[in-house]
Amino acid sequence: MSHGYFQHEGITFPGLLYSPRGIEAAREFPVYDDDVFNVTYQKSGTVWMLEILSLIHSNGDPQWVQSVPNWDRGPWLETLLGLRRARGCPRPRLLSSHLPVQLFPKAFFGSKAKVIYTVRNPKDVLVSLYHFARIFRPYKDPGTLEQFMERFLQGDVPFGSWFDHVRGWMELRGQENFFCISYEELQQDLRGSVRRLCQFLDRPLGGAAVDAIVANASFAAMSSNRMSNFSLSPRFILDMRRGTFLRKGISGDWKNHLTPEQSARFDHVYRERMGGVGLTFPWD
Ligand code: PPS
Repeated sequence: MSHGYFQHEGITFPGLLYSPRGIEAAREFPVYDDDVFNVTYQKSGTVWMLEILSLIHSNGDPQWVQSVPNWDRGPWLETLLGLRRARGCPRPRLLSSHLPVQLFPKAFFGSKAKVIYTVRNPKDVLVSLYHFARIFRPYKDPGTLEQFMERFLQGDVPFGSWFDHVRGWMELRGQENFFCISYEELQQDLRGSVRRLCQFLDRPLGGAAVDAIVANASFAAMSSNRMSNFSLSPRFILDMRRGTFLRKGISGDWKNHLTPEQSARFDHVYRERMGGVGLTFPWD
């Protein structure tokens, strides 16, 4: 049952789990130079990246990801509960966020803290979000995919427009504390992606540790890990009778859902909104 939405600086948030006070508190959140932020537009690979970063954090030892829920390992800053957890995290902290760049903690800018921004083919984000909205109780029922796609393209969904989110964060490209990677790159070459992440984080790891990360961050391993598959989430938040959080975990599922006309309409808006951004990720 949805509790309705509120707007904060033009961005939509669900009233259950989020509040204007919490969003503002996140913006004032004190940042340390050794903080690592896992940032995404929702449904772009947040918990996957969180698993990878958790495993890098523990040098490939799966004990942490198998004993602590992901929302405690890398709390979502913008929820009231997440903010409280974040304040209590031992350093170096791992933190997650779906905030658009203009609502992100001010103290990040000018700090040496690092942001890893994961981006995903927006058609797959749409399909993943559509299914998620049916099981995540803070969100309103998405209606038909046709209706939901129009709202998505207009940015009339929680966390606002995918296009604005990505455009905003892409402004940070070139900064040495900003690393951008795509869900599709993780799919195509998880081992190589882990190595690049280790390099960015200044955490050189040997082959055995990288092997352990690749094995424990697989879709199958995460799906059977209660600390990562959200089966511990209370039912008033996630209705797992209607579907699972780790749903399919593939690239290109949009082809099973969008008609050729819907896909063409999406492409048209994408070209209009993303012209000049120069995203060159391996999307199909
Ligand atoms: S959220 O709610 O915004 O934090 O969701 P997010 O974690 O960003 O995105 C959920 C989608 O990521 C998929 N996922 C994975 N895919 C491949 N491998 C692994 N290990 C993995 N872990 C999560 C998850 O299944 C959701 O995508 P869909 O397309 O719905 O399956």
